[in-house]
Amino acid sequence: MKFDTIIKGGKLVTASETVRGDLGIRDGRIVAIAKRLDAGRANDATIVDASGRYVMPGGIDAHVHLALPFCGTVSADDYDSGTRAAACGGVTTLIDFAIPYGKETLQQAVDNWQARAEGKACIDYSFHLAITNWEQQKKDVPKMIERGIPTFKQFMIYESQGWQSDDAAMYAALEALRDLGGMLCVHAESSRVLDMLIERHHNKAEMKKHGAYLHTITRPNFIEAEAIQRAIEWARVTRGRLYIVHMSTGEGADLVRRAREEGVDVIAETCPQYLALDDSLFAGKDGHLYGTCPQIKKPRDQKRLWAGLKSGEVSTIATDTCTFNTKQKAMWKGDWTKIPMGMPGLETMLPIIFTDGVLKRRLTVNQLVEKCCTAPARIMGLYPRKGTLQVGADADVTIIHPTKKRRVDWRKMQTNCDWSPFQGRELAGFAEHTFCRGEQIVKDYRFVGRNGYGQFVPRSNLLPS
Ligand code: URP
Ligand code: ZN
Ligand code: ZN
Repeated sequence: MKFDTIIKGGKLVTASETVRGDLGIRDGRIVAIAKRLDAGRANDATIVDASGRYVMPGGIDAHVHLALPFCGTVSADDYDSGTRAAACGGVTTLIDFAIPYGKETLQQAVDNWQARAEGKACIDYSFHLAITNWEQQKKDVPKMIERGIPTFKQFMIYESQGWQSDDAAMYAALEALRDLGGMLCVHAESSRVLDMLIERHHNKAEMKKHGAYLHTITRPNFIEAEAIQRAIEWARVTRGRLYIVHMSTGEGADLVRRAREEGVDVIAETCPQYLALDDSLFAGKDGHLYGTCPQIKKPRDQKRLWAGLKSGEVSTIATDTCTFNTKQKAMWKGDWTKIPMGMPGLETMLPIIFTDGVLKRRLTVNQLVEKCCTAPARIMGLYPRKGTLQVGADADVTIIHPTKKRRVDWRKMQTNCDWSPFQGRELAGFAEHTFCRGEQIVKDYRFVGRNGYGQFVPRSNLLPS
């Protein structure tokens, strides 16, 4: 057999097993997996020595916001820096959220996001579509699913952005998507009580005293838990499929567990920041940098979320990358309600999960692949083209060293950000080599990809086959 590339002698990791062997790539696809592959007589295949390394499917980050107009500014990582960062973090596919602004249609939102990605993206990408006005937008949903976008998102907060959906819109969307093979993703926080708590504490004396820690004071765990509970109830009665994005609380994991046991079709995602950071950071000098919604929580929540990943009620890990640099974050001027909310994450997701998860024995390396590659691919309609190592799949591959650590330093990273939530941490699991559809985009930890290589990937609808 003829190959373009053979990745030799690595430990090939899937969600279910780890085997030592070679992986053969031709025309962008995986064409052979065997104990030993021969380059053939012509010997023109590129050989990549992966001995002593893990060879894994490229990561799929199903929650990303690149160049997002938000909180009075535009998030600092775009399809250039964001996808370079992804590649160096071993991520080969991302899913961004196309959001209609004002009276824009869903179609216009996708076209706008496609224009941002075109000519810039270095890895493959897709979009979820935000529903900001169900009554106006519902007629276009079937067309969007046909276009390869089966996942939609509603926000239970962000009224001032014009993004918020109410219970009726959630109920109706779950019901309609159920029949069309779609899925509703939800940002679950309870807006009315949250707004009241913010109002109560929004005064000069408290802002002087607590600074960015007011982000935590005004968002107790029940703000997320109540919203998750309500969304679960709408999923239960409609029998729709619900995906809770960026779940941050232990209470959320308990609710999802119970609902799943009762047969509700609810899936939960968490993010590295909820697993590896805690809210004591808001009390520090640069606490405002860590502002994100929902905010990072307590060590007990971290513990519960790690346990939830292990036991299954947390199905996926994604980054919620929404980068704001220090200048943008400085817009807060001491008022936590004005912090541009979000942080960078694409470059550090796999290293954080590998170091804090696999090396600390909270997850196996197969579970890492399950949560960061295979489950997102299955849930989002990308499987088996992406998310696993198997013959016929896209040759999206990342190779990592199991112990060699690198110090996180934003100065040496691809992100446009001038700070990192994980600055100074020694992490293993950065991509030594990354391949996207067979093309090498990271070599010896250096980005070697190119703008415009990344393609929009149409996703299949999610009806049971
Ligand atoms: O604070 C965050 N997470 N910013 C991005 C928008 C969202 O809510 O996901
Ligand atoms: Zn959100
Ligand atoms: Zn988000």
